[in-house]
Amino acid sequence: MELSRRPRRLRSTAAMRGLVAEHSVRPEQLVLPLFVAEGLREPRPISSMPGVVQHSMDSLAAAVADAAEAGLGGVMLFGIPETKDAVGSGALAEDGILNLGLRRARDEVGDDLLIMSDVCLDEFTDHGHCGVLTDSGLVDNDATVELYAQMAVMHAEFGAHVVAPSGMMDGQVGAMRSALDTAGRLDTAILAYGAKYASAFYGPFREAVDSSLQGDRKTYQQDPANLTEALREVALDVAEGADLIMVKPALGFLDVIRAVREVVDVPVAAYNVSGEYAMIEAAAANGWLERERAIDETLTSIRRAGAQIILTYWALEYARR
Ligand code: PBG
Repeated sequence: MELSRRPRRLRSTAAMRGLVAEHSVRPEQLVLPLFVAEGLREPRPISSMPGVVQHSMDSLAAAVADAAEAGLGGVMLFGIPETKDAVGSGALAEDGILNLGLRRARDEVGDDLLIMSDVCLDEFTDHGHCGVLTDSGLVDNDATVELYAQMAVMHAEFGAHVVAPSGMMDGQVGAMRSALDTAGRLDTAILAYGAKYASAFYGPFREAVDSSLQGDRKTYQQDPANLTEALREVALDVAEGADLIMVKPALGFLDVIRAVREVVDVPVAAYNVSGEYAMIEAAAANGWLERERAIDETLTSIRRAGAQIILTYWALEYARR
């Protein structure tokens, strides 16, 4: 054949493929989610997420130090209290597990690593919803937002560099920004879960945080059928002062990541969620796919879709590799 263009030339050796690779994932743009549980002396494995644990305070500190050592961008902390109640009191307690975890993490690494916090009530409420309820049992948007604003200030005081509202309440970003500013926390950044879908892929996370949720989150998290709605949500978050925007989950929503990337002028993050982690771990454990290649391909595809920052349970392993 007389071909003047032969694209395969650029795939001929590993060196050539490296030379022309368009996307790569760097450790400093990865964020490791970490769970810290009240009352634990030893880390407790999460069976639906092999390799991931609920940390004790001491093992949390060690994990945060490892993350800094490996050059990660940050860690995202979730707290699991021993007791839950209807209003999620543990979230605003001075000795609440997430608050104490943030302080311990920040003491451990200072500014070498970004300490991020999940601002949500679902880990703290006995009904498992992300907010407080009205008398008729519906999630009360405005009362919940008021609590998120208080949580954000508290998290900042306990050491969070970045606060991440994940409850999908209307107005949550603006309320948090103004509360932080009023408290003099001008440098605390907001990573808004701009487009967070009501997804089956959070399944293993529910075990990770001992969730007591009955029912679903469809009145606040988005319908996976919608893309335009995601753009409306992220536009509001940016207008309310979000410094960073997140899309979640990642793999089923790569088109959303791309679309968001094209309309916002802030960095975009994506959350490679628990179910996405569990699927690959389970298949690899069965010998059904090559684990490391599957992980690399997953993270690269999220990057290629347009996410600059990736939250992933593989962050530490990937960075070390
Ligand atoms: C809410 C929250 C959830 C996740 C992160 N923040 C659970 C939910 O919305 O139901 C899921 C993360 C994952 O699945 O890895 N606090």
